[in-house]
Formats: sequence, structure tokens, C-alpha cells
Amino acid sequence: MASRRSSSLCSIWVIVLLLGFTGSSSAHLSKHFYSKSCPKVFDAVKSVVQSAVNNEKRMGASLLRLHFHDCFVNGCDGSLLLDDTSSFTGEKTAGPNNNSLRGFEVVDKIKSQLEKICHGVVSCADILAIAARDSVKILGGPSWKVKLGRRDSKTANFTAADSGALPAPTANLSQLKTTFRAVGLNKRDLVALSGAHTIGKARCSSFKDRIYNETNIDASFAKARQSKCPITVGSGDNNLAPLDVQTPGTFDIAYFKNLINQKGLLHSDQVLYNNGGSTASLVKKYSGSANTFNSHFAKAMIKMGNNKPLTGSNGEIRLNCRRSN
Ligand code: HEM
Ligand SMILES: *[C@@H]1O[C@H](CO)[C@@H](O)[C@H](O)[C@H]1NC(C)=O
Ligand SMILES: *[C@@H]1O[C@H](CO)[C@@H](O)[C@H](O)[C@H]1NC(C)=O
Ligand SMILES: *[C@@H]1O[C@H](CO)[C@@H](O)[C@H](O)[C@H]1NC(C)=O
Ligand SMILES: *[C@@H]1O[C@H](CO)[C@@H](O)[C@H](O)[C@H]1NC(C)=O
Repeated sequence: MASRRSSSLCSIWVIVLLLGFTGSSSAHLSKHFYSKSCPKVFDAVKSVVQSAVNNEKRMGASLLRLHFHDCFVNGCDGSLLLDDTSSFTGEKTAGPNNNSLRGFEVVDKIKSQLEKICHGVVSCADILAIAARDSVKILGGPSWKVKLGRRDSKTANFTAADSGALPAPTANLSQLKTTFRAVGLNKRDLVALSGAHTIGKARCSSFKDRIYNETNIDASFAKARQSKCPITVGSGDNNLAPLDVQTPGTFDIAYFKNLINQKGLLHSDQVLYNNGGSTASLVKKYSGSANTFNSHFAKAMIKMGNNKPLTGSNGEIRLNCRRSN
């Protein structure tokens, strides 16, 4: 009896050690990181996000996307938020971000509120993680306990943001899997997180090729999109269309139903449902169960948020999210 107990204790320690080493990048994040140093952090972030979304629903989508684009490039370190300076070019003008990312003013507003109630305590990288969670919840999606304790980078890397760390809307399935695998996310995470495209908008330039050249697209859907996205090269590039044709302001499972009906807006959306493809069964599953989607989405968001945070004495807590202290 005693020896059986000690051997199972022993295997528990082996598991703990393995987790400690394999999942080490997130080992320092915690749900209670600010419970003493800034107990009102959640209220403060939520109230700014709520009023921004009340003012414009799309802002919830834009804030969610900021956290994604931060985490995929050198980890969740707020590097995305740095403005260009004379000594480096930040990530804001990299291909996937330029003329596309939005919500920076909302982040500034959250940061200035937080500086008033707890000066120099809450990182910009953590603000993005909380704002993403709040946005999803406010628009009708799941909630989750955000892990905190990320610190902010002192610099940014244009090249990394510009050269493949972020997936392109023209990507095929194997390219999507590769970009996600590079940050520790698997096929299930890829499909669940792509469900973020149940909210928000895309520019004509991101889907022009699909609506004119592809065959796995619903004909009337393609036609409707073409009416505001002219075929001429360079024309109408910034015209917007909802990523989810049915309920663009609600975080729901309509995105997955759209894929089954060949109404995915981006090439990278529709490839998730190529018949017989390895991700099609997940698309089917989520299209029939909001509970399953919500639960997988929440888990995948936490996993994404764990990517290579700066912790301990690395990085800094920026006072202004746009520049290093
Ligand atoms: C699977 C690979 C992905 C690709 C190729 C991709 C690509 C894109 C593109 C091209 C746009 C439109 C940008 C524009 O035209 O200006 C967009 C918008 C958006 N993406 Fe993704 N994305 C991916 C995954 C994700 C993930 C993982 C999230 C979040 C968890 C996300 C959240 C969003 C949101 C919310 C919008 C709308 C933003 C707004 O309206 O401001 N995407 N994405
Ligand atoms: C970003 O977009 C602006 C405005 O369209 C353009 O002038 C600039 O060249 C772009 N930057 C990069 C790095 O592509
Ligand atoms: C920036 O990212 C590129 C591409 O990932 C990498 O080769 C380069 O070493 C990075 N530069 C710095 C200063 O980290
Ligand atoms: C995906 O795209 C890459 C780059 O264009 C290409 O090399 C690869 O063969 C494609 N894979 C599939 C399965 O189509
Ligand atoms: C359609 O595909 C052709 C051939 O690849 C390409 O030259 C053309 O630019 C594409 N059309 C659009 C609207 O993207």
C-alpha cells in the first residue's frame, strides 16, 4: 500500500516536471497576477471595451485580432503596439497589419485608465489578452480566465511580422497548419481560432482572388461580394465586407455553417472545409454545437496567449503602449 502510494506520488512528480519543462514558456502566467497590485484591472478594461463596442460593434473584432497578431510574432509581448521610431520600424506597417489593424486608440484609453488606478503595473501585452476576452464575451461568445503576468518588449521586429509568422488569406491548409504549429497550436486550435472570423470585416484586397477565381464558392455569394469589390487591379481594395455573411456582429457558429455552404470569405477560411480534408470534420462538429466550439475556442485562446511571454525581469511595463519607457 505504502509503496503503491509512493510510486503514484512519484509518477505525479514526473508529470509535474514534464509539464514544467514542456510548457515552460507560460509557467509564470497566472490568473491572479494583479490581484494585489491592481485589483480593479478587470473592471477597468471591461468598461473601456464595453463602451468602445457600444460605440461600434466591429471594435470587438479589431481588439480580438490585435491579441492574435501580437502573439504570433515573437510571442505575446505587446511589440505590435509600438509606433515606428527613428531607430527601428515597428510591426504596424508589416504586410498583414498595414492599413488593416485597428483599435490602437482603445488600447491607449485602457492604458491611461490603468495608469490612473495602478501606475506602472499592468503590461500592454496583458491589456490585449484581457480586451480580447472581454470583446468575445460582449459579442455573445464564451468567456475564460485570462492568465496574466506578461511583460512588454522594448523593441519590435518588422521582418518577423512581414515574413510569414502571420498566416496569409491566400494560405492553403498545410501552410495554415505550419504557421500555427510554429506557435504551439495544433489543427484543432487552428479550426477553433479561425472561428474568430464569425465577427469583423475584411478588405476587398484580401478576398478578391477568391470571389473571382475560385470554384468552391456559392455563386450568389460571390456575385454579391463582387458588386462591392471590382475586378480591376487596385480598384476598391479597401472596400469592406463582413467575414461572416450571416451574423457579423455576433460571436456564434454561423462562420462554420457558412463554410459548409461554400460561403467562406477568405481562401484560408474555405480550405478548412475541403471535403475529406483533415479539418472538415471539426468544421462540421462546430457548425452543430456552439458548446463545443465555445469550449475549444476558449482553450485555444488561452494556449495562444501562453506563447513566449516575457516574464520575470525581462522586458518592461510600458507606461505608454506606443513606446518603450
Ligand atoms: C487562420 C489563419 C488566419 C488568417 C489567414 C487570417 C486572415 C485575416 C484577414 C486577411 C483579415 C482581414 C484583414 C483585412 O482585410 O484588413 C482578418 C480579419 C480578422 N481576423 Fe483573421 N486570420 C486568421 C486567423 C485569425 C485568428 C486566429 C483570429 C483571432 C483569434 C483572427 C481574428 C480576426 C478578426 C476578429 C478579424 C476582423 C478584424 C476587424 O474587423 O477589424 N483571425 N483575418
Ligand atoms: C503601408 O501603407 C501605406 C498607405 O497605403 C503605404 O504608403 C506604405 O508604403 C505601406 N507600408 C509598407 C511597409 O508597405
Ligand atoms: C527579426 O525576425 C527575423 C525573421 O523572423 C529574424 O531573422 C531576425 O533575427 C529578427 N531580428 C531580431 C533583431 O530579433
Ligand atoms: C501549399 O502552398 C505551398 C506554397 O505555395 C505549396 O508549396 C504547397 O505545395 C501547397 N500545398 C498543398 C497541399 O496544396
Ligand atoms: C485570377 O487568377 C489569375 C491567374 O492566376 C490572375 O492573373 C488574376 O489576377 C486573378 N484575378 C483576380 C481578380 O485576382
